[in-house]
Amino acid sequence: MSFKLEQKVKVVVTFELSEKLLEILKISNYSKPMIVVDNFLLNSPIIQETFERLTSSGIDYVVYDKIIPDPPIELINKGAELFVENKCDSIIAIGGGSVIDAARGINIVRSFGGDIKDYVHDREVPSLCLGLISVPTTSGTGSELSNALVITDTNAQEKLAVLSDNAVSEYAVLNPNLVKTVPKNMTIMTGLDVFSHAAEAYTSKLASPIIDSICEKIMFLVVKYLPQAVNNPEDLEARERMMVASALGGWVLNNGGTHFGHSLAHVVGAKMHIPHGMACAYALPVTLLYTAEVEPKKVREIGNILDVEFPNNATNEEIGHYVADAYKKFRDEVLGLPTFEQQGIDRKELQNLRDDVVSERFAANSPFEVTADLVDAALLKFG
Ligand SMILES: NC(=O)c1ccc[n+]([C@@H]2O[C@H](COP(=O)([O-])OP(=O)(O)OC[C@H]3O[C@@H](n4cnc5c(N)ncnc54)[C@H](O)[C@@H]3O)[C@@H](O)[C@H]2O)c1
Ligand SMILES: [Fe+2]
Repeated sequence: MSFKLEQKVKVVVTFELSEKLLEILKISNYSKPMIVVDNFLLNSPIIQETFERLTSSGIDYVVYDKIIPDPPIELINKGAELFVENKCDSIIAIGGGSVIDAARGINIVRSFGGDIKDYVHDREVPSLCLGLISVPTTSGTGSELSNALVITDTNAQEKLAVLSDNAVSEYAVLNPNLVKTVPKNMTIMTGLDVFSHAAEAYTSKLASPIIDSICEKIMFLVVKYLPQAVNNPEDLEARERMMVASALGGWVLNNGGTHFGHSLAHVVGAKMHIPHGMACAYALPVTLLYTAEVEPKKVREIGNILDVEFPNNATNEEIGHYVADAYKKFRDEVLGLPTFEQQGIDRKELQNLRDDVVSERFAANSPFEVTADLVDAALLKFG
């Protein structure tokens, strides 16, 4: 039987990173962590202080700082080798979605062997992977609570997903101080990724009432606090609210899942080298248009969160347009995301991606049928 509200990750929200990490290592009897850390943050005072505290507390650790955005398969397998060579017993992942996804991949391979690519289609993660403490430094992917991890096949220019309830973090430590340095555009993109997770999980074929309520709250938090975080990066209240929204977004993915918006974003993003959150933000308006045809009540509710005033007796099509336009206004005017046109991508190139979108893993969760004709039409409205 599969339940609709299950949360295996133990979460703490704190300003005392090193303190909490030491406590977690102690209660779990872990003594040799591998620290998978975003290279950008490696020399930041907060991470240096964490290293010093671990050392002065007698914790021996290994640092792996080679993960790059959209983590390639090879770097994940290499991390697992390093873990085994150094006889580590746990992982502390400090970084954005790329680092945490990579660390979750490393945790699978070091636990059960093989190549991370084996786990994309054929191989199951046989039991719960323990030993991973995730410390997000962006508020976007929610990877710290999610059961999906996204890796990149660089040769095929393709994003692949491993999906397993056994591949989640054991702990997540949320510290708003870590996200204060996220630049403006990244704050916008990652924050819109959170909105997409909630909007898609809310309208996916797998949605359920208990997850719906969390999705509504996530979208509310993004609309209220993302502009504040964008305009004042040091606003710790806004940063904390967005961190929480992001983590909850990761959680709803486990049960509701993303759908057409993320399918478009994964395919177009990988081929055209558009960052994940930005690709999701370009994909959402057209996704809302199609979704309104089959889930008008829910799309209308998204519109209420975005402060839309609907005309009396709005048709499903009108609901879709009103909400897609309100979302674009939030995205482009309130937040200021650079437009798709500014990316300099020839729209004709997108048409070649149709078949990849139809067969993308999450397309099956869409509340409408993702046909080749529908994708053709959607790619014309992407952006
Ligand atoms: N697991 C999931 O469910 C899930 C969901 C959505 C996306 N993803 C994946 O996550 C990845 C995207 O993750 P992301 O959006 O968090 O970005 P990211 O981890 O790819 O990082 C992007 C950039 O931000 C920098 N950065 C990270 N933290 C920073 C900080 N505190 N201050 C300044 N710069 C910082 C990094 O160095 C990097 O250059 C993609 O690979 C995407 O496919 C996973
Ligand atoms: Fe996402």
